[in-house]
Amino acid sequence: MSYDVVADIQRLKREKNAVILAHYYEDGAIQDIADHVGDSFQLAKFGQTTRADVILLAGVVFMAESVKILNPTKKVIVPDLDAGCSLVKGSPYDKYLAWRREYPDGIAVTYINSSAEVKAISDVILTSSNAQKIVESIPRERPILFGPDQHLGRWLSKKIGREFHLWNGACEVHVLFNARRLHELTLQHPDAVVIAHPECDESILAYAHVVGSTSRLLEEVANNPAKKFIVATETGIFHQMKKSRPDVELIQAPVLDAGCSCNDCPYMKLNTLEKIRHALETGEPEVTLDEALRERARVSLDRMMDIAAGRPVRWPEAFTQ
Ligand code: 13P
Ligand code: SF4
Repeated sequence: MSYDVVADIQRLKREKNAVILAHYYEDGAIQDIADHVGDSFQLAKFGQTTRADVILLAGVVFMAESVKILNPTKKVIVPDLDAGCSLVKGSPYDKYLAWRREYPDGIAVTYINSSAEVKAISDVILTSSNAQKIVESIPRERPILFGPDQHLGRWLSKKIGREFHLWNGACEVHVLFNARRLHELTLQHPDAVVIAHPECDESILAYAHVVGSTSRLLEEVANNPAKKFIVATETGIFHQMKKSRPDVELIQAPVLDAGCSCNDCPYMKLNTLEKIRHALETGEPEVTLDEALRERARVSLDRMMDIAAGRPVRWPEAFTQ
C-alpha cells in the first residue's frame, strides 16, 4: 500500500468532512482506510445517520444509491461509477415492471441489489442480513414476488415455508461455486465448518452449516471455536476473517476451474485507493438521482428500515402503476 495515497486520503477526508464506507468485499487496503466496514444493510444505516458532508461509498453503485435515497442532502461519491452488479443488470426496469404488473395484489419484495427504478416499483427492500424478518412481517394471505436474486429467494422461501413468485436473476460471482468439488473438499476436511452466502445455488447451500449475510458469516468465524472453515462467498471477506481469527484455516470454496480467481467480484474490485483519492479530491463521480424517483424509491427502503427496527408498517392494497 502506498503511504502517500493513504496520507492524501486521510487529509482529504478531514478537509472535506468526508466519511468512507466500505463493503467487506473490497480489497483489504480499502477496508483498512474506511471509517466503517459493513454488509449492505449496515452501510445503508451508516450512510443514513452520518453527520459527514460527503459520503464516499467503496462498494457497488446500488449501495451508494441507497445511501443517497435515504440521506439526500449529503453528497454521495463513489470511486468508480462502473461498479455495477449482475443482479442490477439482470433486472431491467421495463421487464421488472411488466412482471410486477402480473401480480397486482402481491407484495413486491426486492433485494437491495437492484436499481433505484426497480426499488421505486417495489413494496419493501431487504438485504440478506434482515431477509427473514422482512418476509415474515408480510401478511400470509398476500402473494410475494421476490427478485432479483432467485437463489436468495429460493433459500428464504424454504426457510419460512412460503411460496414466492421468483425473478430469475443471479449473482455472477456466487453461482460459480461447484458442488461436486465442494463435496470432495468436505470429504478431505471433515472437521471444517462450511459457511455460505445465500446468493449461492442451492446445490452449494445444501453443504453449508451456516448460510448468511457477509456480517453473519464473519460473526460465525469470529465466534465458532472450530479451527477450519470452508467459505463460499467473495474473497474480500477473508480480510476481516483473518483479523478476527488469525488462528484458523480459511479455505475458499472451489469453482469448476481451479486456476481462476472468479470469486473476486469484478465490480467491487474496480475500486482502488487511487480512485478513492481522486473522488475525494474532485467530488466526482457523484451519485445523483432524479428527485421524484428518489422519493418513490424511498418508500420501499423506509419500510425495510421500519421493519428492521421493529416499527409497524402498512402494506399497500394493490399495485396500480
Ligand atoms: P451482504 O448484504 O451480505 O453484504 O451482501 C451484499 C452482496 O452484494 C453480496 O454479493
Ligand atoms: Fe453483485 Fe455478486 Fe458483486 Fe455482490 S458479489 S455486488 S451480488 S455481482
